[in-house]
Amino acid sequence: MTQDVISGGQSIHAPDNLKTLLQTILQQALTVNDGKVADYIPALAEVKSDYCALTVATLDGQVTSVGDATATFSIQSISKIFGLMLAMERMSDSLWERVQMEPSGQPFNSIVQLEWERGIPRNPMINAGAILVSDVLVSHYSASKSAVLSMVRGLCNRDTVCVDSRVHESEKDHGARNAALAYLMKSFGNIESDVEEVLDHYFWQCALTMSTEDLARSFAFLANRGKCPRSGNQITSHRDAQRINALLSTSGMYDQSGQFAFTVGLPAKSGVGGGIVAIVPDYGVIAAWSPPLNSFGNSARGMAMIRNLANQLGLSVY
Ligand code: DON
Repeated sequence: MTQDVISGGQSIHAPDNLKTLLQTILQQALTVNDGKVADYIPALAEVKSDYCALTVATLDGQVTSVGDATATFSIQSISKIFGLMLAMERMSDSLWERVQMEPSGQPFNSIVQLEWERGIPRNPMINAGAILVSDVLVSHYSASKSAVLSMVRGLCNRDTVCVDSRVHESEKDHGARNAALAYLMKSFGNIESDVEEVLDHYFWQCALTMSTEDLARSFAFLANRGKCPRSGNQITSHRDAQRINALLSTSGMYDQSGQFAFTVGLPAKSGVGGGIVAIVPDYGVIAAWSPPLNSFGNSARGMAMIRNLANQLGLSVY
């Protein structure tokens, strides 16, 4: 038995027994063995590679999970969405004078394009763009970390969400490439605050730890025109939710965004902790976690799980 749900003008066949489907998909994903746990941040290299979780949170409030869905992990680049939300609210359209909205086609930590384009990052989802966003937050909030943390706790309705200080420190100690991006932008006049303070905010934000259930709940507003389905609060305007989803569609999976759009067809964001969130407009959020990464820095099993689920339920927005 399936139930028809209208998403983005298309019909989704939501199965009655979603849990059984998720279980099958997770078991299939466990046969994927071609990834490698991130080791360029030493604290991330210590995470066990066999964690695996899949959660679907639908707009009617149901949260269905399989695997390690309540275990918390370093969300890394998924945090770029949280930072961007606050920066968009604070800066409105002037933000787009300092960061573009174009796919980069380059690895997430690439430096070359930033030099050619005179310190203006291609988009807020690559590292340079998220560091620029961190500068906006540090420059415009008296306590930028508290602003992010209280927003995140409210979105997932869990007051104990926190930052893993070991991951934060570990990345600070091995963040030379991100420091290079930040100083290059500073040299072009596109960073206002002290670079070390900006980098500290960026690394801190990447070290937020959450579960797939937390993530799926947090981003439900993006599937619901900016409104949190649980609280009824308008988190962003409908227009900003559309814009964030557009950026996730074109840039959220880095230089694999085109392939993700082609094979899955959902706005999505990954992190090198192995998490991925995918937004299904008017339906809900899928969150997956498995630490081993493919060569683009995206979770190999997470990609397989989301692709499989999206294809079976007909979730593509295209
Ligand atoms: O800046 C870094 O390298 C990490 N803190 C975040 C990178 C990341 O998650 C890229 N994701 N796939």
